[in-house]
Amino acid sequence: MASSGVLENPTRNKTLFIKTYGCQMNAYDSDKMAKLLEPLGFILGNNASNADLIILNTCHIREKATEKVFSELGRLRKLKMEGFKNGRNVLLAVAGCVAQAEGSEIITRAPYVDLVFGPQTYHRLPNMVMEATNSRQKSEVNGAGIIDTDFPVETKFDYLPTDTTSSTSAFLSIQEGCDKFCSFCVVPYTRGTEASRPVEQILHESINLIKAGAKELVLLGQNVNAYHGLSKSGKEWSLSRLIRELAEIDGLARIRYTTSHPKDMDHELIMAHAEVPQLMPYLHLPIQTGSDRMLKAMNRKHDVAFYVKIIEKLRAARPDIALSSDFIVGHPGETDNDFADTIRLIMEIGYSQAYSFKYSPRPGTPASNLEQLSDATKSDRLQTLQQLLNEQQFSFNMQCINTSQKVLVERRRDRDGRLTGRTPFMQNVSFDGPIRLLGELIDINVEQATEKSLFGRVAIKEQCSGHLIMNKNYSEGRKHA
Ligand code: SAH
Ligand code: SF4
Ligand code: F3S
Repeated sequence: MASSGVLENPTRNKTLFIKTYGCQMNAYDSDKMAKLLEPLGFILGNNASNADLIILNTCHIREKATEKVFSELGRLRKLKMEGFKNGRNVLLAVAGCVAQAEGSEIITRAPYVDLVFGPQTYHRLPNMVMEATNSRQKSEVNGAGIIDTDFPVETKFDYLPTDTTSSTSAFLSIQEGCDKFCSFCVVPYTRGTEASRPVEQILHESINLIKAGAKELVLLGQNVNAYHGLSKSGKEWSLSRLIRELAEIDGLARIRYTTSHPKDMDHELIMAHAEVPQLMPYLHLPIQTGSDRMLKAMNRKHDVAFYVKIIEKLRAARPDIALSSDFIVGHPGETDNDFADTIRLIMEIGYSQAYSFKYSPRPGTPASNLEQLSDATKSDRLQTLQQLLNEQQFSFNMQCINTSQKVLVERRRDRDGRLTGRTPFMQNVSFDGPIRLLGELIDINVEQATEKSLFGRVAIKEQCSGHLIMNKNYSEGRKHA
């Protein structure tokens, strides 16, 4: 591991700026990158203009992701050039899934970039940064040109620092990569094959996060419910087994997990929703389309009836569970009838929220070679679909008016100073309250709802001797609404 002694000026603190695109796993990775760089004197800032190291942690999932990265790099080039003129070596790094997919092409097109590294090699970042620092910028147009997009034998998790600070709700990557190869998706190519972290490592990280202030853990993985990590005894644990173990940790109020694939939604995991009080009644379970024909074309490996059955079982286990999904419109071959099937399925299930996207051809994926639908068709379908999903979300939120919801208070909004948190069902709630409520699990009386959020008031449980006592009930019961 790096020591700060070889840096050009080890006594000067340096500023790090990370711009994160994409999924929660990228957010987790960015956080770890910042922690990895602390021993080298880097302090995380929120402004690229005075940063000594700028990292773009990129996403390749949709649209012109690569082009967006290059235009952002074009803007950052100016900062780097200014630095060069003033004798400062501003380092520019491209990380994440575009870095993995494009590799050396990034340096070819943007030679001023110093570092390119993928999601599986960022534990080597301190060494890469030292190398780039020592090599110094060679000319106005040439950066250090260091590229590391391996899928190494060693796992990065063995090299990541432990957490000493944490947000109230903390991400924890437990599984990475994917072997499912859906026709449209780049993830198996950018994140590599499916791999689960060992149980002990996850428990250790969980305990550290909780000690550092986390009350909620969000277990992350591209296929999180395919989790099959090795326990101490050498046995493989499923996600439900892991969740039950985590639920034993004192101080952990809430557990969530994302993203799940319907094929990996086993009986034990469904039953955990009935039996583990800390497991929140919300599940993001993408189906992508309501058409059997399209599910087949997408290589999703199940049909609509299979998905509906899982939802029925989940609702039998946990009647108040709120459901979310991802939908893609305009995958090659999608007809009006296929789209109508998707609309029918959405009406049948009833989602509390969902994400929807126009199909976007990704280089190297099977569907990108097929005949494409027009953008106008995709836009029309997306608009219809989103209107329905927004209506469902709005009516779900409206049902919460005049109910009391347990809210984990996560942050104070800069915009209006209000506190915000989430209900068990993943809804955003904002309300006025004292700063000391941050990190607390409190009751909120919901008074208003919009499509995206709830607004409420702190519930005042008791009034005695002239003092108002906020309700601080840490143990969430089974019934929330
Ligand atoms: N592993 C998860 C999804 C990870 S990607 C799963 O299997 O559900 C997140 C979402 O991005 C996908 O669910 C899909 O809806 C969307 N997505 C992925 N590739 C896409 C593409 N090429 N075009 C449009 N949306 C895409
Ligand atoms: Fe992509 Fe499909 Fe794997 Fe999800 S399951 S990450 S959509 S290939
Ligand atoms: Fe994007 Fe990579 Fe996540 S492509 S969605 S950052 S796994």
